[in-house]
Amino acid sequence: MKLELLDLTKRYGDFTALDHVNITFTEGICGILGANGAGKSTMMNLITDNIPRTEGQILFDGTDIRKLGRDFRRVLGYMPQQ
Ligand SMILES: Nc1ncnc2c1ncn2[C@@H]1O[C@H](COP(=O)(O)OP(=O)(O)OP(=O)(O)O)[C@@H](O)[C@H]1O
Ligand SMILES: [Mg+2]
Repeated sequence: MKLELLDLTKRYGDFTALDHVNITFTEGICGILGANGAGKSTMMNLITDNIPRTEGQILFDGTDIRKLGRDFRRVLGYMPQQ
């Protein structure tokens, strides 16, 4: 399993919340730590395809998650902090 964020960028209007983020997640447990407003929720919303990205790619095992669509959501789990 490999989930890659490639130059992932999200702008809300003129405000850049994520600026060319590059991360590769592989199997195991990862912690996402960042100050308030760092962009953690924005990144999760992009990985879950809940909001549109501005630039960049999100690849699951080499294929864009938007192309995988339902096949990606079938393997995706999400546990919010609450
Ligand atoms: N819909 C939006 N419109 C405009 N700006 C937004 C929007 N959503 C988030 N932002 C801004 O983007 C930045 C990142 O926000 P985000 O919620 O992703 O951070 P976070 O790391 O989850 O913060 P927290 O720890 O407070 O949950 C913040 O400056 C926030 O104000
Ligand atoms: Mg948040």
